[in-house]
Amino acid sequence: MERITDNIAIMHGDCLDAVGAWPADAAIVTDPPYGIGYVHTGTGGGIQSRRNSKPIHGDDRPFDPSPFLRFRWVLLWGADHYKSRLPDSGSMLAWDKSCGKGPKDTFVDGEFAWCNVGGVKRNVCNYLWKGLVSVKKGEDGGRRYHPTQKPVGLCEWCLKALALPPGTLVIDPFMGVGSVGLACIRTGMRYLGVEIEKDHYEKAKWRLLRALTGENGSSGLIAGGKGRQTNETRDRRRFPSGGLWE
Ligand SMILES: C[S@@+](CC[C@H](N)C(=O)[O-])C[C@H]1O[C@@H](n2cnc3c(N)ncnc32)[C@H](O)[C@@H]1O
Repeated sequence: MERITDNIAIMHGDCLDAVGAWPADAAIVTDPPYGIGYVHTGTGGGIQSRRNSKPIHGDDRPFDPSPFLRFRWVLLWGADHYKSRLPDSGSMLAWDKSCGKGPKDTFVDGEFAWCNVGGVKRNVCNYLWKGLVSVKKGEDGGRRYHPTQKPVGLCEWCLKALALPPGTLVIDPFMGVGSVGLACIRTGMRYLGVEIEKDHYEKAKWRLLRALTGENGSSGLIAGGKGRQTNETRDRRRFPSGGLWE
């Protein structure tokens, strides 16, 4: 495990080897391989998309959610692809990525997540991600580092939908390039991300460090970072406990 701060850590490896050691009062918030053999077509993101077009690790076999269902909070993207293996309880959440404005192209207008919290009323996230008018430009100038990268704003919405108390340990076993981690930094959660592919792992580390030090123009959370520290960012640093779970 690589500690980035007292409250943010990442692991390079197979999450299935590690999941047994995680505390049951953590929140699993993740976007696993759905088991659909997804291959990015290389459209929409220029050179970066073409570079990132290799298949998603583990996407060639059905996803088994069972190791992740014992946790206090669970939110899993791609739930429509493995719904028969999920409990009947909980809530379905939807991400409307077209918002009635996106192009009528060959990509879906929405994606679905399942969470183990019942009765979520605000269960639709309207976050325009398709077409020229999308909010992508507001996230790192529209740059993408992973073929199935989720918006940080959507990940932040997920943490709110679960109504997590500040400082909750959020674990993303299928971290990709760390989008959930960036949302945790923004909202003052503790975070552990795991990624099996070294290049995604390194990119996630770079994105997290950049967010913490403010080198992308944001207000950094690490003292000495280039970003300007506001009251808001100082507040976010007040975590209720030291360490991730020890
Ligand atoms: C759908 S992608 C997640 C992308 C992420 N939402 C983002 O915004 O970057 C799933 C990721 O899980 C990783 N992965 C697949 N099997 C894994 C395993 N057993 N342990 C850890 N990571 C794994 C893949 O390499 C891939 O990067």
